[in-house]
Amino acid sequence: MRIRLLGDPVLRMKAKDVEVFDDGLKKLASDLAETMYMNDGVGLAAPQVGLSIKLVVVDLNDGSGWRAFVNPKVVDRSKENYMDVEGCLSIPGIFEEVPRPIWIVVEYLDLDGGLHTEKFEYQNARVLSHEIDHLHGKLFIDYLGLAKRRLILHRFMKMRRRGGSENANRISGNA
Ligand code: NI
Repeated sequence: MRIRLLGDPVLRMKAKDVEVFDDGLKKLASDLAETMYMNDGVGLAAPQVGLSIKLVVVDLNDGSGWRAFVNPKVVDRSKENYMDVEGCLSIPGIFEEVPRPIWIVVEYLDLDGGLHTEKFEYQNARVLSHEIDHLHGKLFIDYLGLAKRRLILHRFMKMRRRGGSENANRISGNA
């Protein structure tokens, strides 16, 4: 699956709820996970491959492999945020510190339509928040100040024009 890059309108759309839980959905989740691993990502949202639906996959780095979250929503969160570096497979080569909650509680469906409520902390909360933002058309650079965001857009466009990533080193924060 081809990953859509910053500037593609699908990344700014509000994704639709998933309503059908069939083999097609399972296949799609597995294709998303494969695309995520091929690009050294830790998370990938369906809009990032051009599908504006509420499906994300993440690898929470706990040895259990990838997991899918369908129609996920944050139903509670810590009042406090903390800063850490993030990247995004749709904005390759750009890494910046952004604030995220210390913990979040997520309500979501699994691939069979079963409802779950689960708490996530720190890095896991960060990755999931980042992916859930994708479903609302929001990107991590939106948390930066306007001047910084402009600078990044400029740097990103320059990199794309050169036909590659100036800074090919991908770190584990790519989502
Ligand atoms: Ni992302």
